[in-house]
Amino acid sequence: MKVAVLGAAGGIGQALSLLLKTQLPAGSELALYDVAPVVPGVAVDLSHIPTDVAVTGHGKDELAEALTGCDIVLIPAGVPRKPGMDRSDLFNINAGIVKNLIEAVADNCPKACIGVITNPVNTTVAIAAEVLKAKGVYDKNKLFGVTTLDVIRSETFVANLKGLKTTEVHVPVIGGHSGTTILPLLSQVEGVSFTDEEIASLTTRIQNAGTEVVEAKAGGGSATLSMGQAAARFCLSLVAAMQGEAVIEYTYVQVDGSDDAAFFAHPVRLGANGVEEILPYGDLSDFEENAKNSMLEGLRGDIKMGVDFVNG
Ligand SMILES: NC(=O)c1ccc[n+]([C@@H]2O[C@H](COP(=O)([O-])OP(=O)(O)OC[C@H]3O[C@@H](n4cnc5c(N)ncnc54)[C@H](O)[C@@H]3O)[C@@H](O)[C@H]2O)c1
Repeated sequence: MKVAVLGAAGGIGQALSLLLKTQLPAGSELALYDVAPVVPGVAVDLSHIPTDVAVTGHGKDELAEALTGCDIVLIPAGVPRKPGMDRSDLFNINAGIVKNLIEAVADNCPKACIGVITNPVNTTVAIAAEVLKAKGVYDKNKLFGVTTLDVIRSETFVANLKGLKTTEVHVPVIGGHSGTTILPLLSQVEGVSFTDEEIASLTTRIQNAGTEVVEAKAGGGSATLSMGQAAARFCLSLVAAMQGEAVIEYTYVQVDGSDDAAFFAHPVRLGANGVEEILPYGDLSDFEENAKNSMLEGLRGDIKMGVDFVNG
């Protein structure tokens, strides 16, 4: 198994790479790429940890080398938010970064599964799809927006509120990855009941959790450590699925024939070739149905912005 992290010297990239170095199966390769000159040093640093995962560092002009032979490519490259910014404010810089990186993925490892972390995810995933289509290598089963952070935050907040073990709480989160497009399905959390007030306040907290971190870091960036954990969980699920285990994760994927949007986070059964099956998200409460209906137009607009960015 070869995994590449593009943007590996950043806050997310370093946390994610550390977790993968310690948790990927023995015999795996981890390729770290970044335009920041520190990236070979990050690779040397990680290589001193005694696991059987080989780590290589690749600077600015060595993207092809990092990508060749990859099974999974994870992309946290780009700028993070500062206080007062919305994820869509990152579009001008991050759209171009994702476009260029995906072109290189298409050229060097067109069959790899790709996890896009760079915000705004609602839009950058659509950009990735259009670039891959233009290169003639798009496989909708292999392109994912990583929304796992919304799931792990929801699980933490619900467990804390209800005094439960975090390992026992599972919260479905559907939709997109920005503001009200993030839709936790609290009505589906097994064995837990909520008052209407709890549902309203928890939903808002989950949707604004990223901003909670951005404000607490006071200009120093956005979620990096929890995002590193979320991306590692997603990547390790993908690895397990590629090795024959049945794994389900919530992730933002292309959904054909849906009334929601062209891309939407669903429960997805992962398999050897990426998406094995997109599962239905089940019945929604009236609160969730209303929340979904009011965010769909915004999500569709975010997706269109990505399509237009590539196709003009
Ligand atoms: N999906 C999510 O849930 C989620 C959560 C948090 C943050 N994010 C997003 O992840 C991205 C990274 O966040 P961060 O906190 O790690 O930022 P960061 O600034 O700490 O790191 C970004 C890294 O990307 C590198 N980079 C920039 N352009 C590059 C290019 N063309 N090729 C390769 N590397 C490049 C930078 O050198 C830097 O090392 C941001 O867009 C942020 O909004 C997503």
